[in-house]
Amino acid sequence: ALVSMKEMLEKGKKEGYAVGQFNINNLEFTQAILQAAEEEKSPVILGVSEGAAKYMGGFTTVVHMVKGLMEDYQTTVPVAIHLDHGSSFEKCKAAIDAGFTSVMIDASHHPFEENVEITSKVVDYAHAHNVSVEAELGTVGGQEDDVIADGVIYADPAECAELVKRTAIDCLAPALGSVHGPYKGEPNLGFKEMEEISQLADLPLVLHGGTGIPTHDITRAISLGTAKINVNTENQIAATKAIRAYLAENEAQYDPRKYLTPARDAIKTTVIGKMREFGSSNKA
Ligand code: G3H
Ligand code: ZN
Repeated sequence: ALVSMKEMLEKGKKEGYAVGQFNINNLEFTQAILQAAEEEKSPVILGVSEGAAKYMGGFTTVVHMVKGLMEDYQTTVPVAIHLDHGSSFEKCKAAIDAGFTSVMIDASHHPFEENVEITSKVVDYAHAHNVSVEAELGTVGGQEDDVIADGVIYADPAECAELVKRTAIDCLAPALGSVHGPYKGEPNLGFKEMEEISQLADLPLVLHGGTGIPTHDITRAISLGTAKINVNTENQIAATKAIRAYLAENEAQYDPRKYLTPARDAIKTTVIGKMREFGSSNKA
């Protein structure tokens, strides 16, 4: 069923597992992730960046594609369609109006007071439509579509507590050293801050930049209240690697279904692995 993230994340935090947000780029990504979730009996969040939504046609196309697949696949697990790194109130509103069940307002690059103001406005509109809201503080490193960071800025626990107190957000992404795209060496996550934030603000935390985080860090983050982990790059790498391998062996092949099938299988395998690692399998 198409739902917001609220209940799935609260259940995850309470029971000690994280729900994966897997970003979709096209039909095959969406198919693979929905199939993985159904097979694993796992709740799932389909992350849609503004760039990916634009690539696919727009917010409406995304919602209809997901709903169509869920009907054809007879999906029974909880699924959220979530705007990833929403850049403004207007974009969040447009996604909600199109039928997204969850949005992230990423006002983290604004001064704190403005972040609170923009986030509150999004929460008011979203909650009136039964849509969940994720907010961010600090800066996630690296680059994802149009979201480019100059550097990594760790979220301030006191600001996190205040943002949570002054807005009714459903989950919070405090940037604590995570990076979009591959890490250079091992990630250096701020677990001390994560613990402090968890104690100050009792709500599910979100970990961005899930690609390349070792299992022991994943486990530790979950034990400190992380209930949502975002993964994008790892699926992109798996899909592209499968396509390259297929085309290298089948040079005369030109039917896109032929090379997109192994890509879809690779995404599905990757997602199933993450669901087991995050502990969300059999939790639907
Ligand atoms: O918002 C999306 C995620 O933070 C994805 O990060 O591409 O490093 O897995 P990743
Ligand atoms: Zn992110």
